[in-house]
Amino acid sequence: MLLSKHFSKSRSNVYLCMMQSVRDIIDQNLFTVENLVTLLSSSVDDGLYLLKKAGEVKLKTIGNKVYFRGLIELSNVCEKDCLYCGIRKSNDAIERYNLTDEEVLGAARFAFAERYGSIVIQSGEVTNEQFVARIERLIRQIKALSDNKLGITLSLGEQTEAVYRRWFDAGAHRYLLRIESSNPELYRQLHPDDGKHLYQQRLASLKIMKQIGYQAGTGIMIGTPFQTMQDLANDLLFFREFDIDMVGMGPFIEHDDTPFRNPVAGSLSLPERFNLSLRMVAILRLMMPDINIAATTALQAIDPLGREKAVKAGANIIMPNITPGKYRNNYLLYNNKPCTNEEPEQCGGCLDARLSLADSEIGYGEWGDSRHFEKKEKG
Ligand code: 5AD
Ligand code: FES
Repeated sequence: MLLSKHFSKSRSNVYLCMMQSVRDIIDQNLFTVENLVTLLSSSVDDGLYLLKKAGEVKLKTIGNKVYFRGLIELSNVCEKDCLYCGIRKSNDAIERYNLTDEEVLGAARFAFAERYGSIVIQSGEVTNEQFVARIERLIRQIKALSDNKLGITLSLGEQTEAVYRRWFDAGAHRYLLRIESSNPELYRQLHPDDGKHLYQQRLASLKIMKQIGYQAGTGIMIGTPFQTMQDLANDLLFFREFDIDMVGMGPFIEHDDTPFRNPVAGSLSLPERFNLSLRMVAILRLMMPDINIAATTALQAIDPLGREKAVKAGANIIMPNITPGKYRNNYLLYNNKPCTNEEPEQCGGCLDARLSLADSEIGYGEWGDSRHFEKKEKG
């Protein structure tokens, strides 16, 4: 009895000290690696304070608008072999598909009619000229069918400078390429050692797209094998250092047909990865108040209200899937991906209803570019 009293007293003292320091870190923007690790691993109560503060900073800085980016998963054909990804080249268990041009344009017309401000064209990484020319043509066609109004974000992996430039000149203005980890050693552990999956190449691609004038988006997975809290803290500092305009990050979820199908020893549980992801979003919102942060689909794979929770914690972008329903079961990057049995029409309404829970307004018909980028442009 006495012993337990003693314990609870000393624990609450420690807890008070922690609380003080966590609040100081947040209130005074003291974002060093050590402090970021403290925030990521702090108590439940401190975590709630963090999420609340980040939500407040978002409202004060960029308001309560959430922007939709209609996601078109153009093809699951991929030349790469990332050890974590369900559409990796070596996965023979999936059927490979390619949307027809008409299906891509149909999805873009749907997004335009639904007044989504932008679309995202995502695909496995393909680098041949036929693919490059096709994307270039599709970008021009989408611009034409929407009277130049639909914003176009690309997420098509590592390409040469010339290719990034062609797509930019055709009308795409944002590019997403996740760094996956800002720690080169961890990057190496997550990718095959075949000379084609190079951290330096990934970084160079990001630099080039920024120079060309794209709004550059990057991101990471949270809870991958071998990742530490220090890695995550450094990832946050990397985003700031790199002066990134948009970030998408979500929990890593095992996929059965990949080398990382089983959790490695010491892995976080899925709920832990989920909570950590919310904290990452919240901290990043405090560190970079005016960037665009996506509430990623992987969050929803763990918690049905995952994306709404991320919006409350500071995210402001949602990517409803507008890929024709029959293909969705083949773009499974991880187990339990949500909404794979739905058609695009079902996604908008479902999101509207959910977002009202997070007290947000949807920025219909607006591009919703990151304020951060706009400020830089104005100089
Ligand atoms: N779990 C979570 N996210 C994944 N991605 C790829 N595989 C997984 C997985 N198993 C993410 C990567 C990639 C993005 C398109 O999807 O970060 O950049
Ligand atoms: Fe396709 Fe990683 S497996 S880019």
